[in-house]
Amino acid sequence: MKTVRAPGRVNLIGEHTDYQDGWCLPIAIDREAVVRYTATDNQSIIVHSAQLPGEARVGVDGGVGPTSAPWASNVANVVNALIERGYPIRGVDAHLDSSVPLGSGLSSSAAFGVAITIALADANGAVLDHIEVARVAQRAEHLGGVPCGIMDQMASAISRAGHAMLLDCRTLHIEAIALPDDLGVIVVHSGLPRTLADSQYAQRRAACEQASARLGIVNLRDATLDAVSDDPFARHVVSENLRVHAFVAALRANDTNALGELLNASHESLARDYLVSTPELDQLVEILRDTGAYGARLTGAGFGGCVVALAPLAEANAIAQHAALRYRAETDLIPFAFVSQACAGAEIIE
Ligand code: GLA
Repeated sequence: MKTVRAPGRVNLIGEHTDYQDGWCLPIAIDREAVVRYTATDNQSIIVHSAQLPGEARVGVDGGVGPTSAPWASNVANVVNALIERGYPIRGVDAHLDSSVPLGSGLSSSAAFGVAITIALADANGAVLDHIEVARVAQRAEHLGGVPCGIMDQMASAISRAGHAMLLDCRTLHIEAIALPDDLGVIVVHSGLPRTLADSQYAQRRAACEQASARLGIVNLRDATLDAVSDDPFARHVVSENLRVHAFVAALRANDTNALGELLNASHESLARDYLVSTPELDQLVEILRDTGAYGARLTGAGFGGCVVALAPLAEANAIAQHAALRYRAETDLIPFAFVSQACAGAEIIE
């Protein structure tokens, strides 16, 4: 029996840029998917989950078994992504236990995909480098009809403890950016499920592709702010890329004012230009700023899910709890809040 862990992520800045070859800056959080697995001589991958009912039974050819739970398709998508890339598959018995809240915008799905990818490859003696793991897990999402970028899988597969990951989504070059010791990362779930996230996500992607076609460029990574000044969707992506680089400079200088302003500017751009916020997310962001955070913004795809805020580490827990209480009183929604370390990416822990 071996064990692999793969964390969820929260993105500090660089939202809706990954699928336009831009830059983003996620950290891996201290919530993770843990898969215990053992290779077998069966022709099936059998997965049980501590959180999900039933059993996933997937053939080594990628077919889903008849008595499988609905979530077996997620396992099958990983198997098929591995097969497509030429990795042979053997039977595996696995058990999944995840502390990443499901469907919350903290990449529970990427954590699952990365952990299962590593387990299935390792069970057959294949060693995939981290970028290949991320590519397989991203391809599995695409096979499941989710046209995501590669940020979540890269963050889960590669992050370094104490650091954010500056990811260039065109080259997949990464640079670990140290987080100041006294900086606290607050994550608050709004209590709003991300209902529209999937359909609107695909629409935003399509709008970016149309903007790039109009400009005659591969994607918005190559656009200037001037060229997109009258297109709010494209303007968000291009301005957000600039904010990522400014944010990295502010982290290096430990300039907390600048960090806060950049978070706030990112939120405004996501809300007003990219139209992926909701009144509740706007309210939660306001409350966090008002409660003493340097700045706050929605994180992930939007339309519900989480916000991220930065604050002095010594006060971060108190700010998180106060903000959550106030938000609950004002909205009747049930948030949950926590302060996360920046953790290490996926690994086999024996
Ligand atoms: C989701 C996707 C990511 C990324 C973000 C928005 O989390 O899975 O690839 O596009 O939305 O930044």
